[in-house]
Amino acid sequence: MKIVCENIDYEKDMQDLVNLFYRETDNPFSIHHSDVTIGGTTTSKIEIINGEEKKEYVKFFSLPPNLTPLREKSLRKSNFKNHLYQVLSSITKKSLPWGSLTGVRPCKFVREMVERGEVKEHLIPEMLMKEYYVEEDKARLVLDILRNQKCIIKNDKLVDLFINIPICPTRCNYCSFISNELCKVADKVDTYLDCLLKELRAVKKLIADKSYVIRTIYIGGGTPTVLTNLQLERLLSEINYPVTEFTVECGRADTITREKLEILKRYNVSRISINPQTFCESTLKRIGRKQTNKQILEAYMMAMEYDFVVNMDIIAGLPGEKFGIFKRTINTLLELSPHNITVHTLTYKNGTDLKDDNSQVFEKEVPRMVDYAEKTLIENDYKPYYIYRQKNQIGGLENVGYYRDGNVCIFNIDSMEDVSSVIGIGAGAISKRVFNLENRIEREPNCKFITDYIDRIDEMIAKKVKFFS
Ligand SMILES: C[S@@+](CC[C@H](N)C(=O)[O-])C[C@H]1O[C@@H](n2cnc3c(N)ncnc32)[C@H](O)[C@@H]1O
Ligand code: SF4
Repeated sequence: MKIVCENIDYEKDMQDLVNLFYRETDNPFSIHHSDVTIGGTTTSKIEIINGEEKKEYVKFFSLPPNLTPLREKSLRKSNFKNHLYQVLSSITKKSLPWGSLTGVRPCKFVREMVERGEVKEHLIPEMLMKEYYVEEDKARLVLDILRNQKCIIKNDKLVDLFINIPICPTRCNYCSFISNELCKVADKVDTYLDCLLKELRAVKKLIADKSYVIRTIYIGGGTPTVLTNLQLERLLSEINYPVTEFTVECGRADTITREKLEILKRYNVSRISINPQTFCESTLKRIGRKQTNKQILEAYMMAMEYDFVVNMDIIAGLPGEKFGIFKRTINTLLELSPHNITVHTLTYKNGTDLKDDNSQVFEKEVPRMVDYAEKTLIENDYKPYYIYRQKNQIGGLENVGYYRDGNVCIFNIDSMEDVSSVIGIGAGAISKRVFNLENRIEREPNCKFITDYIDRIDEMIAKKVKFFS
């Protein structure tokens, strides 16, 4: 269902909120929003139009004086969204877990309020519930996460390095990350690596010239361990920064071998991920993820021998899975006890095969799954440390990373909270520059596709050098 806003600046956020109440195809009526400000008082008007029938909802608010234009716009937007939330909630008799909040980064939103002195840390849950209609457990989760992010260092010279390998052994059908099946790009992988190494060398010079210090490295994708032993060594031998944390997202257990783990260890990789997504093998087949539980267990046991910090990703709401299956996945994870567990909620993404999947997604069971994961992990000494939300995520829910025994992933916190610059290398990588004092962020993307990246590597390098200079 579409909303039309007279002030176009607010339409996208208002539409995001409408989408959380109604699916695109539901079309019971149309919505129109307008606003007018006279003498410091703003009138927000929502019209719900159903054929000949029109119903009007009006709300007044005023803003504190002496706001910057950016802050004023942001507060107006919050007030309009709160108004829309109240109207849609009363019409549908539904509440949303995150109330009127639609953004990707709920913790960042709140941290900035604390930094501006608008709310005291211990009052965050109360404020989120009262002012944004956030459910109590989510509001408390935000406070817990903020308190577990003490490793944040805001220093414009301290940066993270991200290297993208957008290649996978095969495609999983729920995934819409831009990643290529190995068989379709096998003849380009070496040239892609040549270009990555060229970009890495240019970045090395940039780092020295501008006195940047790399705090963490993250090689992600895709599935970086899809590279051969030789290719992996070529890449890693070019990266020799003394960092606090060095992650390689292995992900698919079917790409992990003892030799590859040995190579990762030799080049000082400290953290890897081995992602089951689920321990139900019939689901794995259904979602086209070609790995077995045996492969996951073997990879995990080997990783333990090499003393890696291990993360495991799972997804709540995979097709065909009811609560009982998800619960078994959580309980199996607890037996394995990896250092990090990331609980995703299924996101319907354009371009995935999932929409055509005959298997049912039991959407109504997903909030219970996510609650069970949170409650059980916390009872078993895991703590939540980063969070993000995506569009089209079932039930308007979220993704949460948990850690045990102090093993947070600094890169995940930095990138989700937007507190540190990132030098992004490779196809699809996005560089981010954070200007802490000015409270400003700029982004510079590389080409998305491997072939374009190869063709335009010199342009990518020149852009990056200029961006960080
Ligand atoms: C960048 S992806 C890739 C990681 C690695 N290639 C793998 O598959 O194990 C990181 C994580 O996002 C999650 N993910 C991917 N697509 C998703 C979707 N449609 N809904 C929810 N989570 C998703 C998965 O848990 C996945 O492990
Ligand atoms: S989920 Fe991971 S392995 Fe599967 S297609 Fe996406 S990036 Fe590749």
